[in-house]
Amino acid sequence: MAYLSEPFARIGIIGGTGLYRLAGAAVLETLDAATPFGPPSSPVTIARLAAPDGTGGSDGPVVAFLSRHGVGHSIPPHRINYRANLWALKSLGVEVVLSCAAVGGLVPSHGTGTFAVPDQFLDRTWGRADTFYDGLLSTGVQHLPAAEPYSAPLRAALVAALELQGEDFAPTATMAVINGPRFSTKAESAALIQAGAHLVSMTQYPEPVLAAELNMHFAALAFITDADTGHDGSEPVTAELVLGRLAAAQPRLLAVLSAAVHRVSAALAGMEPAHDGGFPLLALIPADA
Ligand code: ADE
Repeated sequence: MAYLSEPFARIGIIGGTGLYRLAGAAVLETLDAATPFGPPSSPVTIARLAAPDGTGGSDGPVVAFLSRHGVGHSIPPHRINYRANLWALKSLGVEVVLSCAAVGGLVPSHGTGTFAVPDQFLDRTWGRADTFYDGLLSTGVQHLPAAEPYSAPLRAALVAALELQGEDFAPTATMAVINGPRFSTKAESAALIQAGAHLVSMTQYPEPVLAAELNMHFAALAFITDADTGHDGSEPVTAELVLGRLAAAQPRLLAVLSAAVHRVSAALAGMEPAHDGGFPLLALIPADA
């Protein structure tokens, strides 16, 4: 397996709850990627999307797809091996990562059934391995700049794709990330709103910072399945409710993703590297990873 000189895919997609495979894409290969942190959540599927005109053939962009919760949704948010997931994608040649997530909406501007493209996160998780610079692989110290944690060109591609698909969406959002696996109490939800959050998720940290440490562009496509504890008078969130609404929205989610991937694929050649500076960890990815 060659690294970088012959990337398997330059675009990576992380599927969240309800998105365990890319329906409609042609699977080219399914790979069990080994990483220094153990196996990723799922095998990585290398798949070719349909061409922009919707036809099959060899014109569509190739992506590397990984299921965050594992095949059959077997891994809870706090047990996901985020480092292995991001490392696996990087080792297959991925340069940009689109991360999909079902999230709760905390405020009326981010309503149930709509999409959002986060531009900030508020980390309320604990105990998650959120850096590659912890002495295991490198003795270097890394203080990652995180003021703008999402990639501007990737976010722009998602916004353009949402517009193209005629979706209702918020172009910015602050994403609070709780540890889970339980949902929030009303008091916790109110505290997140007071802290400035628009959305709440259990899995959107630490993916952005791990991607940055590996010099990959990263952006998230959030689909709002619920109003968390019910700020709009709706019933409080349950897992069944999230899964049901996400299943119903699958075709919309896939259409937006596909439009975004086509855009990113066309723009890749002109994209600057996600972050400055040579990250020494890159040299540690084995050629046969
Ligand atoms: N995922 C979907 N809805 C959520 C919520 N309300 N809180 C945390 N994670 C979620």
